[in-house]
Amino acid sequence: MGCHMYKKSVVIGVTGGIAAYKAVDVVSRLKKNNYNVNVIMTKAAQKFVSPLTFQSISMNYVVTDMFEEAKTWEVEHIALAKKADLFVIVPATANIIGKIANGIADDMLSTTVMATRAPVLFAPAMNTNMFCNTIVQENIFKLKRVGYHFVEPSEGRLACGDFGMGKLADPEIIVLEAEKLLNVGNDLVGKKILITAGPTREPIDPVRYITNYSSGKMGYAVAEASAKRGAEVILISGPTALKRPLGVTVIDVITTNDMYEAVLQNYKWADIIIKAAAVSDYRPESIAQNKIKKLNEDMSIKLTKNPDILKELGKIKNKNQILIGFAAETQSLINNASVKMENKNLDFIVANDVTREGAGFDSDTNIVTIIDKNENIRHFDKMSKLELADIIIDKAKQMME
Ligand code: CTP
Repeated sequence: MGCHMYKKSVVIGVTGGIAAYKAVDVVSRLKKNNYNVNVIMTKAAQKFVSPLTFQSISMNYVVTDMFEEAKTWEVEHIALAKKADLFVIVPATANIIGKIANGIADDMLSTTVMATRAPVLFAPAMNTNMFCNTIVQENIFKLKRVGYHFVEPSEGRLACGDFGMGKLADPEIIVLEAEKLLNVGNDLVGKKILITAGPTREPIDPVRYITNYSSGKMGYAVAEASAKRGAEVILISGPTALKRPLGVTVIDVITTNDMYEAVLQNYKWADIIIKAAAVSDYRPESIAQNKIKKLNEDMSIKLTKNPDILKELGKIKNKNQILIGFAAETQSLINNASVKMENKNLDFIVANDVTREGAGFDSDTNIVTIIDKNENIRHFDKMSKLELADIIIDKAKQMME
């Protein structure tokens, strides 16, 4: 759906360095994000990782040597050079950097890179002294000047035991930089998106609390997709076990009241507000100062209502802000969700029946119906939360226009 219709092609050039095994992770992440990936390995690279590994992960034949199949190589390298939407050289040794910078094309990778018009991203990895070597630095400078891209290595302990600059950048960062060059994301540049995610937690005493099964996956997926498309993102998150999405400002909160305050402090800034959090509707009226002892046969906790954050936003938002809510239901999905949308003055609501297999809490997929204020109702089949994130953002963007 949406932006995944045309599969973009990434050609990964692997050169001979210890970090070659990390290129496997880069390929795997790109496949997961739905790109077609072809791998070209230099002779030296094959000493570190077997082509079969890359073949299995990329699900494509790995190109290894231009003279082995004399009849096809020429076609092949030109075909890959043409087909590529992006080249990523990971890891990039001083050798490949030197060759490309000086116009030497003597193997499959260097000839293909020379023949492409696609952007080329180098992810260097080498010994610190090599990286700092003036010739290497001049080569990098020269390549940058004529439009080649680099994702800088980081500082750390290197394979040789030295400590310093030259460690391959984190595969996650390499993929993020690659996706920037693929223009996955620039349709939301200049847009500001506020997202809430996860459960909230209401303390009972110093060791106990009330919460729900929300994992935060849906809200985090929306944050990740928004950032990838170039938006500025603030994610207000209840307690979750999830990794923070790259390029997103995260504000951690625990209780509904914390979330309410954080939202009120930031909502004015946002063009789009997406409330994916599963907010605790009630909290204990008072929090016991000490651990509650089991003295009686029964016990009850008096609960009091929390603010309805979304409803408040519906009252105070300005007319240019797009407000989006979620509805988790176990019955009368469309009806309950429509009522919520109206009561809370939303632009649209994403409704899911949490009792269905493949929908709702902690699932990587979701099955939803989107209902908007103009009474458009659209049902969607089961899809990943990341795919759904793009659909939600597309709809928000469309309603802004
Ligand atoms: N929500 C909120 N503040 C609350 C309760 C809910 O901001 N105190 C938001 C949620 O983030 C979600 C939407 O309201 O986007 C709907 O949440 P849901 O729990 O399904 O609905 P409620 O309004 O709480 O209604 P009910 O629990 O009675 O079904």
